[in-house]
Amino acid sequence: MGTPTNNQLCDIGFIGLGVMGKNLALNLADNGYKIACFDLDKDKVADAIAQDKAENPDGEPRLMACSSYTELLNMLTKPHLIMLSVPAGEPVDHVCHRLIDAGIRPDDIVIDTGNSLWTDSVEREAQYKGKFIFFSTAVSGGEQGARFGPSLMPSGDPYAWTRIEPVFEAIAAKVDPQTGRPIEDYAPGKPVKEGEPCATYIGSVGAGHYVKMVHNGIEYADMQLICEAYQILREGLGLQPKEIAAIFREWNEGCLNSYLIGISAEVLEEDDQETGKPLVDVIMDRAGQKGTGLWTAVSALQVGSPATTITQAVFSRALSSFKQERVDASKVLTKPEPATFSNSDHKQVIEALRDALYCSKICAYAQGFQLMDIASKEHGWSLDFAGIAKIWRAGCIIRAVFLQSIANAYENNDGLKNLLLDPFFVEQIGKFQHNWRRTVADAIMMGIPCSAMASALNYYDSYRCETLPANLLQGQRDFFGAHTFSRIDQPVAKKYHVEWSKPGRPQYQIKC
Ligand code: 6PG
Repeated sequence: MGTPTNNQLCDIGFIGLGVMGKNLALNLADNGYKIACFDLDKDKVADAIAQDKAENPDGEPRLMACSSYTELLNMLTKPHLIMLSVPAGEPVDHVCHRLIDAGIRPDDIVIDTGNSLWTDSVEREAQYKGKFIFFSTAVSGGEQGARFGPSLMPSGDPYAWTRIEPVFEAIAAKVDPQTGRPIEDYAPGKPVKEGEPCATYIGSVGAGHYVKMVHNGIEYADMQLICEAYQILREGLGLQPKEIAAIFREWNEGCLNSYLIGISAEVLEEDDQETGKPLVDVIMDRAGQKGTGLWTAVSALQVGSPATTITQAVFSRALSSFKQERVDASKVLTKPEPATFSNSDHKQVIEALRDALYCSKICAYAQGFQLMDIASKEHGWSLDFAGIAKIWRAGCIIRAVFLQSIANAYENNDGLKNLLLDPFFVEQIGKFQHNWRRTVADAIMMGIPCSAMASALNYYDSYRCETLPANLLQGQRDFFGAHTFSRIDQPVAKKYHVEWSKPGRPQYQIKC
């Protein structure tokens, strides 16, 4: 292909035309940008071009195929704006190196939109400094979000952001400012123009991917909680999938309204085409995971943030993967005598379960925001939690009506230590906690696993406990390891030790 003239040049280069990449490219095209596309797999580029043609039969082509990195750079206006949608890890560096070989310049911007580990983004910005500007943007929303409006978590060079901002505001999901709910009135070629865009600058490079990582940790917890509610309804009340779907649909009208509840109902309504059984009954009960939930749990452990429900959700996926062992164990390990709910009124049980799910969900989100707060302080990000809650109201997988309540909580008090302390959530948990406790207790007595729900309740009970048995624990540590302890009636920094093994020991020795 010859050198394109100015009016043939493309606005944005797109590398990686898998499902997410193709849909993001088409979303950009719907918003008036001309896109130069490259993928090592030529078929993927051809597929994206064909879809553009099918969706836009009478117009000028909006997606242009490139067969090399050099051709991609030559087809772009300067300075170049390039988006990557390639698998996280080594493929991102591979593409960055090929772009350097192809002659990318210091003022060109490369935006990584994959599910990258946030520390990799930090390293990449430093590694590619002087060659091009590496900018990280986490994207949530799956295929549909990418196509019609994802939630975007951009982070990196503030100069680069001034260039990227209008593009991202155009392609992001939009929220109705009156209702706080997603505007979902879109179609190919008809992007939503009005409303508040779900894209806000998160902070220096890596911050966006950190926030997305926590989003995914919350996503794991939210999904696990819904699955536990399903199992309680299925095994505890003996309901059929379609009956449970109807309950979820009803819950979706109230405070539990969320994308995840909606799609859970859809999955439960589906029959298997081959056997005619409910599809959920033929899906193997082994959960997969790509790693972002694990990263969140690891980060929580590293910074000492008690994200117990999030971490439990990762463990629950791990436990599910021991399918054959569970099958074998089910034949050996005993369970409680068949029991029913202590309350035999189904309506009340379902209502209590809804409340348990809601309270557990509040705790999972409280843990996610607590983790981000600790990380923000540790890395000097000054994260804006109201802003983060707002961009999660639409487009992303955890979009839910109650994210507006979270945004309100941080707008009312930007120094809020924990979501649980916000007056609205204090009132909500106060109102529903009896049902939460009842549900968890019943599930435990019936032998139905509810580890995420129980962990959320334990998080709540531990967080509100003035005195925890960590005093005894400190005594144990001092006993066997001379690890010292602080006294409640002295400054915390003053450390005490007991000479436990000395007969007739003086009670305390001050260590430091
Ligand atoms: C999103 C999702 C998405 C998720 C993948 C894999 O926000 O769009 O969180 O990014 O990472 O769907 O998730 P698993 O770890 O469950 O495989």
